[in-house]
Amino acid sequence: MAILIDGKKLSAEIKDEIKEKVNEYFQKTNRQITLAVILVGNDPASSVYVKNKIKATEYVGMKSLSYILPETATEEEIKELIITLANDDGVDGILVQLPLPKGINERAILDLIPAEKDVDGFKAENVGKLLLGEETTISCTPYGVITMLKKYGIELSGKNAVVVGRSNIVGKPMSILLLQENCTVTICHSKTENLKEITKTADILVSAIGKPNFIKEDMVKDGAVVIDVGINRTEEGIKGDVDFDNVSKKASYITPVPGGVGPMTISMLILNTLNSAKRRKPC
Ligand code: GUN
Repeated sequence: MAILIDGKKLSAEIKDEIKEKVNEYFQKTNRQITLAVILVGNDPASSVYVKNKIKATEYVGMKSLSYILPETATEEEIKELIITLANDDGVDGILVQLPLPKGINERAILDLIPAEKDVDGFKAENVGKLLLGEETTISCTPYGVITMLKKYGIELSGKNAVVVGRSNIVGKPMSILLLQENCTVTICHSKTENLKEITKTADILVSAIGKPNFIKEDMVKDGAVVIDVGINRTEEGIKGDVDFDNVSKKASYITPVPGGVGPMTISMLILNTLNSAKRRKPC
């Protein structure tokens, strides 16, 4: 039976450490670190994520500014808001919750965020630095996964890591981070042939495809470390990408859904915001 990687507990510990650092920063600078969050439209999942992000921001003693725009907001309106926040010296981080409504050019919006306020690490400049191994802001979900693996003392160097999913916000940066830890990395996606043959080679298997219970026990090697990034809403509630009940009998470590990667994403956002503030306005 696999050891459960408790993202909820780890995330709570990290938030408490950050809370102390936010307080120290305030004592030294008399500045309250500020994160601006923009949500466009009323996608229920995005609304929940944004609510949790705001809650965590306030928990650690940061100020949160939230901008909830209607589904009908134009690209120009969103851009104007970002330009205003970019020019506001009091704002340390800007987060635009994705996905944006159809017809809005996400890339054009994200690239308007100044690199030093890009707490999601989505901007081309920050993604490029990640690829080059330079210091940068790392996309919160893959950063959370790597942090979990390290905190649980899981050996990465020389291991076969398989990432299922090639999105810009999870799959691609995840594979780069695993490569930096000296894993041998394979990225699989919807066009991959013989997926099972590849996932079975994984010492570390990360699934980020958004299909409930997709990863079955016959796709997993005995003793693999299985990280489930999926958050899928089903009639039976929130389900991960991994068939937890069966895969957990074979894996050595596994993350649950909920309570695994999700909470880590939020604490990494808060960490990125703290680091943005420190870089912009050192104490
Ligand atoms: N949508 C899904 N995950 C994320 C995330 O980490 N950040 C933002 N901004 N949007 C998301």
